Amino acid sequence: MREQWGSQTGFILAAIGSAVGLGNIWRFAYVAGENGGGAFLLVYLVIVLTLGLPLVVAEIAIGKRSRVDGVTAFERLAPASPWRRVGWLGVAGSALILAYYSVIAGWALRYFSAAASGTLWDRPPGGFAASFRAFIAHPLEPLGWHLGMMAISMAIVVAGVARGIERSCLWLMPMLAFIVLLLAGFALTLPGSSGGVAFLFMPQWSAVFDPRVVLAAMGQAFFSIGLGMAVYITYGGYMKPEQRIVGSAAVIVAGDTCFAIVAGLAIFPAVFAMGGNPAAGAELAFITLPDIFLAMPGGKMLANAFFLLLSAAALTSMISLLEVPVAALMQRAGLRRRTAVLAVGGAALLGGVAPALGYGPLAWLNVTGAPLLEEVDHVVSNLVLPLAGLGLALFFGWVLPAGTARDLAGMRGLAWALLLWAIRWLAPVFIIGLMLFRLLAG
Ligand code: PHE
Repeated sequence: MREQWGSQTGFILAAIGSAVGLGNIWRFAYVAGENGGGAFLLVYLVIVLTLGLPLVVAEIAIGKRSRVDGVTAFERLAPASPWRRVGWLGVAGSALILAYYSVIAGWALRYFSAAASGTLWDRPPGGFAASFRAFIAHPLEPLGWHLGMMAISMAIVVAGVARGIERSCLWLMPMLAFIVLLLAGFALTLPGSSGGVAFLFMPQWSAVFDPRVVLAAMGQAFFSIGLGMAVYITYGGYMKPEQRIVGSAAVIVAGDTCFAIVAGLAIFPAVFAMGGNPAAGAELAFITLPDIFLAMPGGKMLANAFFLLLSAAALTSMISLLEVPVAALMQRAGLRRRTAVLAVGGAALLGGVAPALGYGPLAWLNVTGAPLLEEVDHVVSNLVLPLAGLGLALFFGWVLPAGTARDLAGMRGLAWALLLWAIRWLAPVFIIGLMLFRLLAG
């Protein structure tokens, strides 16, 4: 008998756990910061609503009915079509993301451990920038923390869907919600914090129509929701028949978006209150924030909470990224869960070595001169995820007969007409258009 979620809440929290991760805290803050704050947020919200939500419905619908892994699901629904292979993109993509995501998650865990033990505050002469650069360039340390995060994820996924994944998310997710609300509440009371709120919510209208901002918003939306990586197919495959698709998708997408906004309300007001630079880029969480924490009353306690939040959010996403290829291996190669976890976790561990060392010993190993990890993240967010989303949209909208797709989603009337239109036309035109722009504009 195939594994199942113990409860609807368990499924929802596990899915939100997958969606809420480094993307909502570390990535959202710096991409929003670099792309004009409010303008970015506005475009982001429109994309989440018009593309994100419909595609999550499509993924859950595919998974719930076929009750198999992300590769087999497509094959079962369209055995004769060449499009049946589209699932490979998602499953391979998950394994790829897992490998480098774990490296950044390891940085977060290292910062949590250093904040909790107090060593983070022994500032070297060059400040937090120097200590962060020294840490990520170290030939061994980043590997150790990468191994640590991977080992914890593997231990949880080995325990199974209900006993491992669901149980850990049932207590981790409420804890995350509590911490992020606490941090935002605190940041908003700082004198000067209103600049951060304005930055996040007041759009600069010229930036709203800048294709670069739109592209960044789409990449961020796909990454943050975790679209096209077969997570919702796999997790949907463990649903009980009576669980609802559209309602679940709406809660998942809304939860992910609210979380990113509240995390933004924790970060930008603090950055503005302390005179930091909101467009500091990928270093915002590891260099700018520690400085801010150090200068703030009670900041050391808050730093513990922040890095715990970052590590735990990353963990629940890693669990889902691991489960996708594990489910595929179990189904297709007939492996036992334990063997599949060892195989995928081991491969991702090795795959993370080069990106982990790309700031130090392997700094020469890249294509454009940017560190390997950032190159891979760029390709994943702006190419692999949109392509997988496109494949999903074309499969659900065009390859499946409309009647079949409607049955899978269990929808009717206007809602279904709108959803089908978004998946058939809006998503493909939008994704292809933006990718062409990128190709031509460089
Ligand atoms: N959504 C996760 C985050 O925001 C990352 C992720 C991507 C998870 C793709 C699953 C699939 O951090």
